[in-house]
Amino acid sequence: MATRITNGAGRKCFLIWGGDGWIAGHLKVLLESQGKEVHTTTARMENRDAVFAELDRVQPTHVLNAAGCTGRPNVDWCEDNKEATIRSNVIGTLNLADCCFVRGIHCTVFATGCIYQYDSAHPWGGPGFFETDAANFAGSFYSMTKAHVEEILKHYNNCLILRLRMPVSDDLHPRSFVTKITKYEHVVDIPNSNTILTDLLPASILLAEHGEVGVYNFVNPGSISHNEVLSLFRDIVRPSFTWKNFSIEEQSKVIKAGRSNCKLDTTKLVTKLKEYGYEVPEIHEAYRRCFDRMKAAGVR
Ligand SMILES: NC(=O)c1ccc[n+]([C@@H]2O[C@H](COP(=O)([O-])OP(=O)(O)OC[C@H]3O[C@@H](n4cnc5c(N)ncnc54)[C@H](OP(=O)(O)O)[C@@H]3O)[C@@H](O)[C@H]2O)c1
Repeated sequence: MATRITNGAGRKCFLIWGGDGWIAGHLKVLLESQGKEVHTTTARMENRDAVFAELDRVQPTHVLNAAGCTGRPNVDWCEDNKEATIRSNVIGTLNLADCCFVRGIHCTVFATGCIYQYDSAHPWGGPGFFETDAANFAGSFYSMTKAHVEEILKHYNNCLILRLRMPVSDDLHPRSFVTKITKYEHVVDIPNSNTILTDLLPASILLAEHGEVGVYNFVNPGSISHNEVLSLFRDIVRPSFTWKNFSIEEQSKVIKAGRSNCKLDTTKLVTKLKEYGYEVPEIHEAYRRCFDRMKAAGVR
């Protein structure tokens, strides 16, 4: 099915779902800075009437779905609120994708790569997981809902599914991965794929505008350990910063749900973005640039 290139008014128009969320806010600022027409909504994704009403009111060519149940203060919440988590992450996400399909609208889903864990075929320092690899991490209910919904969602030919991991902004927003690990009393030290938002969000717009669909690992190339991130943070942003490590076994005593640790392969993403002349920096370089921007903005 071909999705709309322009709306009834002959324009490209973006509608961001989950309008009050962290990533949604970044998307709005980015689109506005690019001079694009952008609207946001907080309508509940699982409410089919409300979703159709929003789609028919705004007439978007592109929906950016940055809504989802992530739990507060963290994903442990989802363990105790399974029905609410399903309502948003499964029923809501599928309903929004389906309503967009019915109206011929391209739908970009800001999904997660936290559906894998290192295994014997993908050890630390080894190859990353491909988009086609089956999820192998169900240690948290949040991740389980996200992995299951992706399996269905990928059959919608109007959907672009972007798998973010441990997203990082150029400030110390409480939802940014860097902020979280600088505030923990103890941190594990495991290499992971991370998404530096300044590098990847413009790429999401590029892919959406070109009508790309399917699943993409949406992270910077390579992997980086917690200690490497914190060392760069100390060296560039906050020279007085210190931290303490603990083991995964010790970590498991202070969290309810398991946490995914993995590296994602970025060949598909990097190859596709090259077609549009867009490059994503390797994760160590990306962090250096991110912390340089942070320092330049006066963050200490
Ligand atoms: N931040 C991360 O670490 C991370 C990592 C990978 C992927 N992601 C994914 O990226 C997306 C955005 O994340 P974020 O960090 O920006 O989360 P966020 O700040 O919690 O924003 C999510 C927004 O979605 C809304 N929402 C939840 N359920 C909804 C529903 N059924 N219908 C409509 N709106 C709903 C929430 O509103 P209410 O509070 O009113 O429910 C909230 O405003 C999520 O799907 C998340 O799973 C995030």
